[in-house]
Amino acid sequence: MKKQILLIMCAALMLSGCASAADKDKKTENSSASSQSKSSNTTIDSKTSGLPSLKDLYADDFYVGTAVSPYQLGDIDCMLLIKEQFNSMTCENEMKPDSILDKQTTLSDIDKYREAPAVHFDSCRSQLEFAEENGLKVRGHTLVWYSQTPEWLFYKDYDTNGELADRELMLKRMENYIKAVFEWADTEHPGLFYAWDVVNEAAADQGQAKRDCLWLQTIGDDYIEKAFEFARKYQPEGVKLYYNDYNAFQMNKQLEIIDFLKPVAEAGNIDGVGMQSHIGTWCDTESYGEAVRRYNKELGVEISITELDISKDNSDDWEKKQGDYAQKYMEKIIQLKNEGVPITSFTVWGVTDTSSWKKQESPLFFDGNLNPKPSFYGLVAAKDPEAAKTE
Ligand code: G3I
Repeated sequence: MKKQILLIMCAALMLSGCASAADKDKKTENSSASSQSKSSNTTIDSKTSGLPSLKDLYADDFYVGTAVSPYQLGDIDCMLLIKEQFNSMTCENEMKPDSILDKQTTLSDIDKYREAPAVHFDSCRSQLEFAEENGLKVRGHTLVWYSQTPEWLFYKDYDTNGELADRELMLKRMENYIKAVFEWADTEHPGLFYAWDVVNEAAADQGQAKRDCLWLQTIGDDYIEKAFEFARKYQPEGVKLYYNDYNAFQMNKQLEIIDFLKPVAEAGNIDGVGMQSHIGTWCDTESYGEAVRRYNKELGVEISITELDISKDNSDDWEKKQGDYAQKYMEKIIQLKNEGVPITSFTVWGVTDTSSWKKQESPLFFDGNLNPKPSFYGLVAAKDPEAAKTE
């Protein structure tokens, strides 16, 4: 019976542009659903409504976010869980260059679009509407990245069989792309975005300072500086400009990153470093904390945890270990915050284990049935041990 109500409600919410009718504890099928069925006025519990809320617990500390994919918004229980637990979101894939660049239009008139490739924002529309209707803020992810950026962008005639574009042309394309995205955000969604990953994962994993990629090959060694320069020029009001990377706590990588971000910071063009934090229980929270302090001190920037997941280990009691680790990790974040390190947002990379990009490693805080895991209670206990008691 409950399932039937949920299905009706889900369809109604999707048709009416998602969940604006749902409240925190009791969900009343009212305005949006009544446009489909005038007679119904049914109150239901969300599957997860009795849980402590991360966004409420950490309301005075930072935004608490999750990565969202469009299909999750078609699942009413998942949608309600997002609303209960989070006040920030990141589009998991739909704001990356391969979603935003409009190949068909660009290729339809190469001369017209040579310096300014066409863009469209169809992929992320439903997620941003959901965020707006439900009071979530958004991290923009991501502008300049070696991955999920189509190869054709880097060729003179947008033809991968032809020659690569030269520095001058690629600088124009980079500037115009950043300008177009920021102008769209400012016009269509003023105030929605509070941070943007301007450059993502530019550091090499080993050895060299920068990852080899087509941005580096076409523009040259200063492509990161130029990206931040353009971003500063066109940034919408209230948006912080971020560099974002994984394993950013590792010593060699953090030194590389600080080294190539120094000139960006000196030019006043960067506001934050994003610690992606795809980690496991192996990750030493002390050295992680040291890295956070170092970025803040050396570059004068704020910090965000942008993509946290904690992979399980191979032990039989992995769930408990993951839970204990989540608590220890979060206690470190709170300690840093209390020291005065400006940590402004904390985002987990997905909602449930089964929708995670690393689903074999069960790295998230809710299982596939939306049940809270010990790792969820670990995040709660770090702030409020009483709230984490389940009996
Ligand atoms: O959309 C296509 C679909 O049409 C196709 O049928 C299907 C078949 O594999 O693939 C779908 O695309 C997948 C896409 O996610 C959307 O689900 C890609 O294969 C898959 O590679 C892609 O993975 C994403 C990954 O970035 C790509 O680099 C993950 O969902 C996403 O969580 C992950 O996110 C990154 C951050 O942006 C940056 N930091 C690391 C993080 C984890 O890799």
